[in-house]
Amino acid sequence: MRRFPTFCPTMPNTQRKILVTSALPYANGPIHIGHLVEYIQTDIWVRFQKMCGHQCVYVCADDAHGTPIMLRAQQEGIAPEVLIERVGAEHRADFAAFAIEFDNYHSTHSNENRELAELIYRRLDAAGHITSRTIRQAYDPEKNMFLPDRFIKGDCPRCGSPDQYGDSCEVCGATYAPTDLKNAVSAISGAKPVEKESDHYFFKLADFAPMLKQWTHGKHLQEQVANKLDEWFAVGLQEWDISRDAPYFGFEIPERPGKYFYVWLDAPIGYLASLKNLCDRNGMDFDAYTRQDSDIELYHFIGKDIIYFHALFWPAMLEGAGLRKPTAIFAHGFLTVNGQKMSKSRGTFIKAHTYLDHLNPEYLRYYFATKLSGRIDDLDLNFDDFTQRINADLVGKLVNIASRCAGFISKRCAGKLAPALDDKALWDFCVAGGTAIAEYYETREYGRAVRDVMAMADRANQYIDDKQPWVVAKNTGSDAELQAICTMGLNLFRLLMIYLKPVLPTLAVKAEAFLNVAPFAWTDSSKPLLNHTIEAFTPLMTRVEPDKVAAMLAASTEELKQVTTMQPSNTATAAGPLTDDPVRPPVSYDDFAKLDLRIARIIKAQHVAGADKLLQLTLDIGGETRNVFAGIKSAYAPESLAGRLTVMVANLEPRKMRFGVSEGMVLAAGPGGGDLWLIQPDNGAQPGMRVK
Ligand code: 2FM
Ligand code: ZN
Repeated sequence: MRRFPTFCPTMPNTQRKILVTSALPYANGPIHIGHLVEYIQTDIWVRFQKMCGHQCVYVCADDAHGTPIMLRAQQEGIAPEVLIERVGAEHRADFAAFAIEFDNYHSTHSNENRELAELIYRRLDAAGHITSRTIRQAYDPEKNMFLPDRFIKGDCPRCGSPDQYGDSCEVCGATYAPTDLKNAVSAISGAKPVEKESDHYFFKLADFAPMLKQWTHGKHLQEQVANKLDEWFAVGLQEWDISRDAPYFGFEIPERPGKYFYVWLDAPIGYLASLKNLCDRNGMDFDAYTRQDSDIELYHFIGKDIIYFHALFWPAMLEGAGLRKPTAIFAHGFLTVNGQKMSKSRGTFIKAHTYLDHLNPEYLRYYFATKLSGRIDDLDLNFDDFTQRINADLVGKLVNIASRCAGFISKRCAGKLAPALDDKALWDFCVAGGTAIAEYYETREYGRAVRDVMAMADRANQYIDDKQPWVVAKNTGSDAELQAICTMGLNLFRLLMIYLKPVLPTLAVKAEAFLNVAPFAWTDSSKPLLNHTIEAFTPLMTRVEPDKVAAMLAASTEELKQVTTMQPSNTATAAGPLTDDPVRPPVSYDDFAKLDLRIARIIKAQHVAGADKLLQLTLDIGGETRNVFAGIKSAYAPESLAGRLTVMVANLEPRKMRFGVSEGMVLAAGPGGGDLWLIQPDNGAQPGMRVK
C-alpha cells in the first residue's frame, strides 16, 4: 500500500486532499451491527484525517434500486420512492446516533446519479465496451417478470435438498444455473417459471484485462485481496450483464426503452453522485475529484463480499469513461457474534436501533476499534469480552485518570492547573508514542492504536498510584504539590483523549468541555495544558451493565418472536450472509400435543402505526375473536388478507407488546421478508377447528 506522510505530527506542511466512501446500504432494510463495522471503521479513519488538518470528504448514500426494493414496496402497497424515503431517514438517524459523520448522505435514486450513470454508460458505449445479445432466462408467468436467481427456489440438482435458491445449494454447496433446479418455483408468486428470451446489454470487462492485471497489483489493494483476484483472472474475465428488463426499479437505459441499468451498475456511481450533490451545494469543484489527473486521493471502504464489483468492474468502468480510478480499496472482514454468524434465532442479529435502546454507541465504536486491523479477517463481538473491555479500559483506566485528579484541582486549586509538568519524562514518552498511533490509524490498525493508548493509560494510573494525591491532600503535602500531581494526571488524560478522539468523538467533546478547551486537533498533543482553568468534573462514562446487554439480546430475540414468522432475510450484507435457524432438537409427542392449533379466519387486517413489520390481525376461531400481531407486513398488503383462512397457535401465553396484547400466533413458512407464505387449510376447514 502506498504510504502517505501525515500532515501532522511529522509533515506539518503537507495537506492531503482525500475523498472517502463507505459501501452504500440497501434501502430496504435496517442498519445492523454488522453494517456498523464498516461505517465505524471508515468514520474513525476520516475523523483521524480531519484531526490532522487534511481536507477529507466522506460521502455515502442509500443504494435504492433493484428487484428486492421494488417487490418490498409492492408488498407494503407503497411506491418505491416512498419506501426508500422512509428507510433513508431511518438509516440517517441510526448513523447519526453512532456519530458516523458523513459530509454528505445521498441516494442512488437521484438526478445526479441518473446523469452520471448515463454519462458513464454513453462513454463506454461510444468506446465500444458495450455489447448486446439475446439470453434465455427464467420468467414468472403470473407476475410477468424475469426472475433474478435468488427469486427462484427448488430442489438442489445435486443433493436433492428442497427449498434451495437458484444459484447455489446451502446444504451441499453446489453451484448451478437456475434452470438446473428441480421442481423450480418463483419465490414471488409460487408459479412454475418458464424460460423466455430477452435482449441484454453487457459490459466487456475483458477489454480492460491488461489494465486490471496491472492495477490490482499496483498497491491499490490489500495483498490478500490482490491474490484472491488472481483466481478470477485465471478463470478469465466474463462479460458483465448490466441490463434488466422492466418491471425494474432503477434508471432506464438511454435509447433502450424497457431496459434498465442493473442496480450494481449505478451503485458505485452513487459515490460520485453523492459527491456531486455536495459539490453543487457548496461550490466545490467536482471535476477536480474525478478527472484522470486528479491529485485528490480516493478510498473506498467495503466488505470483502463486494470486492469483485469494486476492484474489477468499477476501475474498468472509470477507465473506460475517462475518469480517475480509486487510490485504494480497503476491504474488511465480516462480523461474527459470540463466534458465530449473526443469527436472528440466537438473538444476535442486532439492529442499530435495538442496540441504541440499551447501550451507549461509543462502547461499540471502541470495541470494534480494538478488533479492527488493515486485513480482511473476520472480527468477533463477544458480549462478555465487550463488557469486560469497556469497563476495564474506558471506565477503569481512561476516565479513571481524570476522576482521580479532577476533584483536587477544583477544590484545592480553584480549578487551575499548575504552571509545569511534574514528570516530563513520562509526558515525553506519551507524546513520542503518538507518532506510532497516528501511523496505526493511517493503516487502519486501530487495534494496535488502542493497545498503545491503553498501555499509556496504565502508565498514567501507575503515576497516580505512586504519587498518592489523596495522601498528599490529607496530611503531608502542599496544595502546590497536589496541583502538580493532578496537573500531570489531567495532562495525560487529555493526551490520551486526543489520541482516542477518532474512536470516541462524543467522549472527546465531553472531555473538551471539562478541560475548557477548543476541539482537539492532532497537533494539540505536543503542547501540555498549563496555567489553565478547567471546569468541574462530571462523570464522563458509566460502566456497561451486564443486564443492559442481556436486555438488548432479549429485545433482539423478542423482535423475532413478535414477528412470529420472520426469518433471516437472504440479503448478504456487510455482516456476511445470515444463518438460518439451527436444526431444532426433537420434541416429545406430549410437548407437541400441548399446542392448541386452530383454524382461524382473518376478519380484519390493518397496519400498526410505528411498526415496520407488523400487521394487526383480528381472527375468528369459531365464535371467539383474537387480536394477533404478526410480522407479515413485508409479504402481505392488509387488504389482501381479510376473509382468508389460516392456522394459529391459540394457547400461546398472551404477549404484551408496544402496540397492544397479542393473543396468539399465526403460522407461515418461508425465509422471511417478502418471501413468506401464510399456512392456508384446504377448502372445507372451518374457523375454530382443531389442527391435529
Ligand atoms: O452489498 C451491498 O449492500 C450494496 N448495497 C453495496 C453497494 S456499494 C456501492 F458500490 F454502491
Ligand atoms: Zn445440494
